[in-house]
Amino acid sequence: ITTLRQTAAHKDILIGSGAINPTYLNDAQFSTVLAQQFNSLSPENELKWNFFHPTQGYYNWTALDRLVDFAEANDMAVKGHGLISSCCNPDYLLNITDPTQFRAAMTEHFNAVMHRYHGKMDRWDVVTEALQTMGGGLNNNTFTKVLGPGYIADAFRIARAADPTAKLFINENLVESYPGKRQELFNLVAGLVGDNVPIDGVALQMHITEIAPIPGVITNITNSYKALGLEVTIAEMDVHTLKKTLVTEIYGNVIREALDAGITDISFWGFTDKHAYTWLAGAKPLMFDEEYNAKGAYYVTHAAL
Ligand code: XIL
Repeated sequence: ITTLRQTAAHKDILIGSGAINPTYLNDAQFSTVLAQQFNSLSPENELKWNFFHPTQGYYNWTALDRLVDFAEANDMAVKGHGLISSCCNPDYLLNITDPTQFRAAMTEHFNAVMHRYHGKMDRWDVVTEALQTMGGGLNNNTFTKVLGPGYIADAFRIARAADPTAKLFINENLVESYPGKRQELFNLVAGLVGDNVPIDGVALQMHITEIAPIPGVITNITNSYKALGLEVTIAEMDVHTLKKTLVTEIYGNVIREALDAGITDISFWGFTDKHAYTWLAGAKPLMFDEEYNAKGAYYVTHAAL
C-alpha cells in the first residue's frame, strides 16, 4: 500500500497535517510517519502572535525554523497558520488603541514573518475565526475593537503586500454545521471580493463532532466560492466522537465529497491519537492510533484519494 502523499502526488493534491508542535519531532516515530504520509504541514500554536513575537521588536524563530527545516528536508509544503487569531495576542498589541499605530504593528508583524518564510510558507491563514462560534457577528476581538470590521480587509492587504506569491485564506470553523454562519461567512467573503480585497480562498477548519456535515454541504460551499473565483480547502479536520465506526464513516464521507467537489488541499489537525498530540485529549479523532497504527479513518481516506 502506498502512503497518502504518494497517492495524492499523482493528482497534485496537498494532504497535510496541521497541529505540528515542533517538539513532537523529537519523537522519531512521529516524524517518520509525518514525513512518509503527508506532503504539507502547519504549526499548532507556534505561529500565533505571542508565541514568536511576545514583545514589540523581539522575535523568536527557533520553533518555526525547526518546522520549516523539517519540511524542506522532507519535501513538504508549509502552511502559515495563522497571522491573526482571537487568542494569543501579546500585551503590547492589546495595549495599542490608536488605529494607525495598530495597523503599523500588524504590518511590522506580517512583514517580519512573511519575509522570513517567503518561498517556504506558500499559503497562509490570514484571519482565523473572524466570526463568533455560533455565528451572529464578528468576534469582538482586539482587532475588531481597534480597527472595526475593516481589520479583515486591512489584514489581507498587508499580507498580500508582504508576500505577493503566497495564497491567502480566511479560516473559519463550523460553517459546514451551521447554515446561518455559512451564509454569514459567504456574505463577508463576497463583500471582500467585491471590494477587491486580495483573498484566495476559504479554509474550512472541519473540527467535526458526531453531527457530521449533511451530504451536499461541502459541495455547495465549494461551488459557491468557486463562483467568486476562490478556492476552498479543508484545514484542520478531526472527528470528535467516541463512536469508533462513526469516525471512520465521517472521514470517508467528508474526504470523498471534498475530492469530488474539487478540493485539492486537505489537512488534518494532527494524525496520531497519542496522548497530548491532539488538542482533543481523551478522544480518538485522528487517522492513527496511539501506537501509530493506521485506523479505519486512514484506510477510507487512502481509498478516497
Ligand atoms: C488549538 C491548539 O490545537 C491548542 O493547542 C490550543 O490550546 C488552542 O488552539 N482552530 C484553530 C487552531 O484555528 O488554531 C486551534 O488550535 C484549534 C481550533
